[in-house]
Amino acid sequence: MEDIVFDEERLVTTNEQSGDEWQYSLRPHHLREYIGQEKVKENLDIFIKAALKRSEALDHVLLYGPPGLGKTTLAGIIANELGVNFRVTSGPAINHSGDLAALLTNLNEHDVLFIDEIHRLSRNVEEVLYSAMEDYALDIVIGKGPSARSIRLDIAPFTLIGATTRAGALAAPLRDRFGVISRLEYYKPEELVLVIKRAADILDIKIEDKGALEIARRSRGTPRIANRLLKRVRDFAQITGDGLVTDSIADDALLRLEVDKMGLDRTDRCMLEAMIKKFGGGPVGIDTLAAAISEENDTIEDVYEPYLLQLGYINRTPRGRVVTRAGYEHLGIPYPEM
Ligand SMILES: Nc1ncnc2c1ncn2[C@@H]1O[C@H](COP(=O)(O)OP(=O)(O)OP(=O)(O)O)[C@@H](O)[C@H]1O
Ligand SMILES: [Mg+2]
Repeated sequence: MEDIVFDEERLVTTNEQSGDEWQYSLRPHHLREYIGQEKVKENLDIFIKAALKRSEALDHVLLYGPPGLGKTTLAGIIANELGVNFRVTSGPAINHSGDLAALLTNLNEHDVLFIDEIHRLSRNVEEVLYSAMEDYALDIVIGKGPSARSIRLDIAPFTLIGATTRAGALAAPLRDRFGVISRLEYYKPEELVLVIKRAADILDIKIEDKGALEIARRSRGTPRIANRLLKRVRDFAQITGDGLVTDSIADDALLRLEVDKMGLDRTDRCMLEAMIKKFGGGPVGIDTLAAAISEENDTIEDVYEPYLLQLGYINRTPRGRVVTRAGYEHLGIPYPEM
């Protein structure tokens, strides 16, 4: 059995890799250019228009969903549609409550403050947010000991947009302060075709519809992966063909890159295979599985499992993970009949 490939090196990882920065140029700037997520878009469109009409700050927005689905992109669009500044930070980047206070006091009226990975804010930093979100005020303690007193500082009405991959990891008092909570969903292949064609247009890549669909099917429902695969397939199209991305060029290129028809790579197939060959297809507990493939539990749950669950190749049961019939079939291994 082959080794598990470290996630950062995987072509199909959903997380942002170093070297993905070129994708920023592909980010749409307006709601009408943002593909898919129709429900979320429809609602936001109304809330944005209403806030503008009343000349108020938009309610605080929480965006959650798996990596690479366009949370940061959407947050930028909201600021743009509101015609305000877009200030970007992230949970792990704010170490002290003073850092957050500084950010908040520097906001102009109705600005958007975007906090990525908001579930990773530390507790004391998070507490500063409560009054900021609720009353547009900061409670600052001056002095120490018995002479310490608290003063209240007003800040400009603003919109906090929080992004997280784990809404469940958010403390309830924080979650409750968001007026709008939107969950981003995996994209359908037809939607990813539009993402790919739009990116191809911007990058000046010639692509056939069937070529775009071939890439879309293997992009794990994720625009970030679709863009990444498109760029790699283009190289093949230019070297082995005349630059036009057709379905056969896309298929050939992605097979060579070891991304199969469903978008599984070596790591996914390796984990499925381990579950089948070492544990008879399961049920296998997360700890046992983690030990068997030398991985952390969290990595399995956050990185390896979601797409396999989404495809229905594995199931979670109270007794552990099991490989489904579809999972066996995908690997070409006969499903054990009872
Ligand atoms: N709806 C969309 N339409 C067109 N392109 C999109 C869309 N959503 C995302 N993209 C593209 O996918 C890339 C990744 O999106 P983005 O960086 O916004 O993901 P994210 O959800 O913030 O991910 P993370 O959780 O890793 O921060 C963007 O650079 C953009 O080019
Ligand atoms: Mg992001």
